[in-house]
Amino acid sequence: MNVKQLAAEKAVEYVQDGMKVGLGTGSTAYYAINKIGERVKDGLRITAVATSQASEDQARALGIPLVAFGDIDRLDLTIDGADELDGKLQLIKGGGGALLREKIVAMGSGRMIVIADENKAVDTLGKFPLPVEIVPFAWEWTVAALAKLGCKPELRRSGEELYRTDNGNYIADCHFGAIESAPELAASLQRIPGVVEHGLFIGIASLAIIGKKDGSIEIVEAE
Ligand code: 5RP
Repeated sequence: MNVKQLAAEKAVEYVQDGMKVGLGTGSTAYYAINKIGERVKDGLRITAVATSQASEDQARALGIPLVAFGDIDRLDLTIDGADELDGKLQLIKGGGGALLREKIVAMGSGRMIVIADENKAVDTLGKFPLPVEIVPFAWEWTVAALAKLGCKPELRRSGEELYRTDNGNYIADCHFGAIESAPELAASLQRIPGVVEHGLFIGIASLAIIGKKDGSIEIVEAE
């Protein structure tokens, strides 16, 4: 079993009958959704909300009952991956481009469990470029404002085209290097009008399940 699968399948043990569950996006969340699908086939009764078209398609194919997030009040649990996580369970997310929906869903959940392989665990966030979702209108101004925060922003591409999120927006991948204060950076990003959302998840994940190459699992609880 690979390490992503190891972490993902452990996290699915936290899913209980009757729960409303948020389904993350990415190659680690993929394994969690597969495992939830297996458990649904074995009789687990849950309803789920997907954070991307890809996760929705996967869940539908596995027979996981889906609802629109707008049609329910709250989720019990969301299981999602991350691009980086630190010891305070601050995350960088959005490598897969789904950060906006992922943040809406995670913040509407009683609990978020982050699943990752050990390479994602870092002392200081920022080696992974921070994804920032921006509106296409006057994106040049928004990118210039991002650069003033001390990063090198790069508009994400998909082949010849600019990458579009499921919400029709662009992603600027911002190379900051070491992020000394994630909360301060988050506040600065939120002040830029063209920024829809950024990939810093602070105070959202309450548990991390980290799969290791030696086959063990580390569980980190937020303070
Ligand atoms: C998607 C995400 C993913 O959770 C993140 O990119 C990790 O992906 P993977 O599990 O494939 O490494 O934030 O927007």
